[in-house]
Amino acid sequence: MVMVKVIEVAKLPEKAPVPVAVGTKALLVVKDGDKIYVADGICPHGRWLLSLGTYRDGHLTCKGHGTVYNLETGEGELKGYKYYIRTYEAVIKDGAVYVEI
Ligand code: FES
Repeated sequence: MVMVKVIEVAKLPEKAPVPVAVGTKALLVVKDGDKIYVADGICPHGRWLLSLGTYRDGHLTCKGHGTVYNLETGEGELKGYKYYIRTYEAVIKDGAVYVEI
């Protein structure tokens, strides 16, 4: 596991999903007030970019087919089926977001 820089906090819009590539990894970042969510950025259901989706109250709805992910737990649900994305603890240091990958 290594701590990697994801993005400067100042570059994050409020309550809007942002795609960030870290190495070969596609991540999703959402800032909601003091809370910053970081999760895998690809939907396991049909491989859509989750940053194209809609954020609301700690949840991200995938634009592909509507799976709703809890960004705290990574658990998603679509028509009774469960899908999971990895979530990361966001560490803020010197004005930037870091995660352990
Ligand atoms: S690709 Fe995300 S819900 Fe189908």
